[in-house]
Amino acid sequence: MRALITAGGRGTRLRPLTHTSNKHLIPIANKPMIHYALEAVAAAGIRDVGIVLNPDTGEEIRQGLGDGAAWGLAITYVMQEAPLGLAHVIQAAEGFLRGEPFVFFLGDNVVVGGIRQFVERFEARGDHCHLVLARVRDPQRFGVAEVQADRIVRLVEKPARPASEFAVTGIYVYGPPIFEAVHAIRPSARGELEITDAHQYLLDHGFRVGFSEITGWWKDTGKPEDLLEANRFVLDQVLDATGPVIRGQVDAQSDVAGKVVVEAGARVIASQIRGPAIIGEDAVVERSYIGPSTSVGRRCVIRNSELEYSILFEDTQILDADVRIERSLLGREVLIRRGNSRPKTQKFILGDQSTIELA
Ligand code: G1P
Repeated sequence: MRALITAGGRGTRLRPLTHTSNKHLIPIANKPMIHYALEAVAAAGIRDVGIVLNPDTGEEIRQGLGDGAAWGLAITYVMQEAPLGLAHVIQAAEGFLRGEPFVFFLGDNVVVGGIRQFVERFEARGDHCHLVLARVRDPQRFGVAEVQADRIVRLVEKPARPASEFAVTGIYVYGPPIFEAVHAIRPSARGELEITDAHQYLLDHGFRVGFSEITGWWKDTGKPEDLLEANRFVLDQVLDATGPVIRGQVDAQSDVAGKVVVEAGARVIASQIRGPAIIGEDAVVERSYIGPSTSVGRRCVIRNSELEYSILFEDTQILDADVRIERSLLGREVLIRRGNSRPKTQKFILGDQSTIELA
């Protein structure tokens, strides 16, 4: 069993963050998103992993993940020269996959609870294709499976009127017939080889398409609010439930409660932190409030400010902000501070496609 993880998606709905960073490296609980996929694959006992890159942002991923030894994995990088769809990704990786069974894992899907059980069910049932389904409120955003009497009878990509609440998540397990399917299908109206069409081909040609319903938690992180939600959930799941873990310094005037990690070199001074929250290495939180579901990246500085339900990448500063900052995603080296000049106006220096919401 091998694994193929995508890291080539452009993340257009996450601009401007994705102008300067590959989407799959956006931090969730202070760890690049794609690390969760690598951990899940390693925990399922898989060693050989292909990572699919695009020609523009591939180098950043290569540098970040290296040869995979940090996870006990052997990584092979596969280039997808043009964004021609997920079934095309499998075509591009065929040489690496060598016709063996494999897990296909979309690197922007965050799953808590592992994937081992899906691989085991695929093997136990003798499936040719095993899909992982999740009940969602907005199935029209996904591939949707129509299930009758415990069997998938039809699959439709992003239907306007979904026939069920079952989204097909970005975790798939395949046997060799998937190669026949990805070569047989034709491009969709948007010009892509759709993975959903490859699945429908398998159904139409009598191959066994089984499914599991996801038992843990799953999120496709396409939009900013998805990232915040994934961050909230992962913080809540992975942080130590027994209370704060303090590797840095917290002074006597501070109050740190709940699932909180204060990393080495971080300093919390006269501040309140309400978990789940993580304060990254060498960050400074001074005379401030950090509320639940917040990740503060390495070397960030927060002074005289209030912050909640947000993700801060590295080296960002929030100084003397007199409104609470909430539901925010701040990239690297962002500076938000109160100005002292007259007249008292709002000033912005924002890159392309930034979003600001004023109170
Ligand atoms: C892709 C698939 C879709 C699936 C989703 C899961 O959509 O085409 O069937 O439900 O991943 O994340 P995309 O996110 O590329 O629009």
